[in-house]
Amino acid sequence: MVIAFVAGATGYTGREVVAALAARGAAAVAHVRPESSRLPEWRERFAALGARVDATAWQPDAMAATLAALRPTHVFALLGTTRARAAAAVRAGGPAADYEAVDYGLSVLLLRAAAACGSRPRFVYLSSLGAGGTGGNAYIRARNRVEAELRASGLPFLIVRPSFITGDDREESRPGERVGAAALDWGTRLLGALGARRLRDRFRPRTGRELAASIVRLALEGREGVVEAEQL
Ligand SMILES: NC(=O)c1ccc[n+]([C@@H]2O[C@H](COP(=O)([O-])OP(=O)(O)OC[C@H]3O[C@@H](n4cnc5c(N)ncnc54)[C@H](OP(=O)(O)O)[C@@H]3O)[C@@H](O)[C@H]2O)c1
Repeated sequence: MVIAFVAGATGYTGREVVAALAARGAAAVAHVRPESSRLPEWRERFAALGARVDATAWQPDAMAATLAALRPTHVFALLGTTRARAAAAVRAGGPAADYEAVDYGLSVLLLRAAAACGSRPRFVYLSSLGAGGTGGNAYIRARNRVEAELRASGLPFLIVRPSFITGDDREESRPGERVGAAALDWGTRLLGALGARRLRDRFRPRTGRELAASIVRLALEGREGVVEAEQL
């Protein structure tokens, strides 16, 4: 029986991962942060998919206790912030919510809880194209550090490094990302027409649903290690 805990379940990719897991008959637990103003709405949406919502606080002891009780077979880390969201958190006077605090901090908090929970779950981490080297900007550095801690954790793992994740069905308006993805989409079609299929598959933007279907298939097949964008 697959028991999957999904962090970042409310995200553009995460909600589709929960849907894909539930459609495959997995016991899917969708994590929603307890302070979310949309918690009642998410409870309804995920219940309609056949998934359960968990609203454990992002605190090490609380997350460790939740995973120890659940004993998941799979833990999905699909969360991350944006520079705009991090700036909005500062303006609102809340705690830091930048790449260091969210993309690195919360992913690693989840990883440590998973490593200690006793069921040795497969840890599925949604990283990014460009991760895996050294250096990079704050966004890539956060991913490199999570990947390094995941490799050292002793857990079986799957790291997925996609290009842009976007589509008309994304609720949040991200004008810069949309323009970049549209240019990339056009460019990759041209590459495909010219026969450069590997490059096309590496940079082609994917929708959340498309990416989720690949992630869930690979995770449930027991795929291990790193999956680059062109392998999705
Ligand atoms: N977008 C891209 O083109 C792209 C490309 C490659 C990799 N990625 C990475 O892939 C992952 C998923 O991307 P996505 O576009 O599906 O994500 P998304 O739609 O932006 O969703 C982000 C998720 O992270 C949660 N989150 C954000 N800030 C948080 C905070 N301070 N505390 C707790 N939870 C927080 C959100 O919860 P709430 O709903 O409660 O805010 C949501 O569940 C991210 O790590 C992203 O960086 C994205």
